[in-house]
Amino acid sequence: MPIIRTAALLIICSLAFSQNLMAKEIVIKFSHVTTEKTPKGKAANYLKELVEQRLKGKVRVEVFPNSQLYNDKEVLKALLLGDVQMAAPSLSKFGKFTKKWGIFDLPFLFKDASAVKCFTSGPNGQTLLAAAENKGIKGLAYWLNGMKQLSANKPLLVPDDAAGEKFRIMSSDVLEAQFKAVKANPQKMSFSEVYNALSTGVIDGQENTWSNIRTKKFYEVQTDFTESNHGVLEYVLVTSTEFWDSLPADIQKELSAIIKEVTAKETQWALEAAAEDKEYIIASGRTKVHPLTDAQTAQWAEVMKPVWKKFEANVGKDNIEAALKCDK
Ligand code: LMR
Repeated sequence: MPIIRTAALLIICSLAFSQNLMAKEIVIKFSHVTTEKTPKGKAANYLKELVEQRLKGKVRVEVFPNSQLYNDKEVLKALLLGDVQMAAPSLSKFGKFTKKWGIFDLPFLFKDASAVKCFTSGPNGQTLLAAAENKGIKGLAYWLNGMKQLSANKPLLVPDDAAGEKFRIMSSDVLEAQFKAVKANPQKMSFSEVYNALSTGVIDGQENTWSNIRTKKFYEVQTDFTESNHGVLEYVLVTSTEFWDSLPADIQKELSAIIKEVTAKETQWALEAAAEDKEYIIASGRTKVHPLTDAQTAQWAEVMKPVWKKFEANVGKDNIEAALKCDK
């Protein structure tokens, strides 16, 4: 009898254990560096909302905006350690994991957001999404922010105007080469430090999108902006391959469907923000916004474009060609 009793006890215990496992809610901590009002901030919150509706009790998303939890440098380390499960950094910040994503930093490669969309949704862009998987980072989707603009405390109308100026850049060797091409001094710095560095004069200028310039108030501490559209700020929504592979197939499927829906909305918010935030900054009267003539744009492109050759082997000639086809 004691054997039967022990066996029954074991069965009860294992049933209770597996039920407990089944009931355990999966928590996705999503850390990012922008405010909740940006396209990325809204998308992260929308992801949380859809997960709440469709995976209630199974998955919960917790969003930490505005570098509250981690800044740019720390978040990818945290992702690999399992301290956060999702992030959406700029593709410029992955140099340690893959050189291929440097393609998004090549100056004057993408003429606008539609060209970027054409590339990311095409075969080259889709293959590139997996470029950091061998380092444990899984790309889930591309998210747009927009085209970057230059600023300083002087008008930057032609490349010579930038010579000698200290510009904050994201941690990208391509962006470093881009500013060196105009004889400026690039400084890699976390996004959370830019406002202070601009207001105290640690740096003279920066490049970013209208959305980030507005939400981080850079327009209050720079006298002149150039509508240069010289590059793109594009994100990749990432998780760790380890976390993703640990998810049950049905959860992966539902999460993938949710991400697809969120990505469509995110693109729409990014396009709206690019137009609205530029108008807001002009209307604020706090700074001057200089559009460039075609001849001035051509000068910037001429000086910056040689950077492509330097990084061609890293980013892939075929990828550059595919991107160029999207510019037609
Ligand atoms: C930056 O560092 O300028 C951007 O990548 C910030 C962001 O996430 O939009």
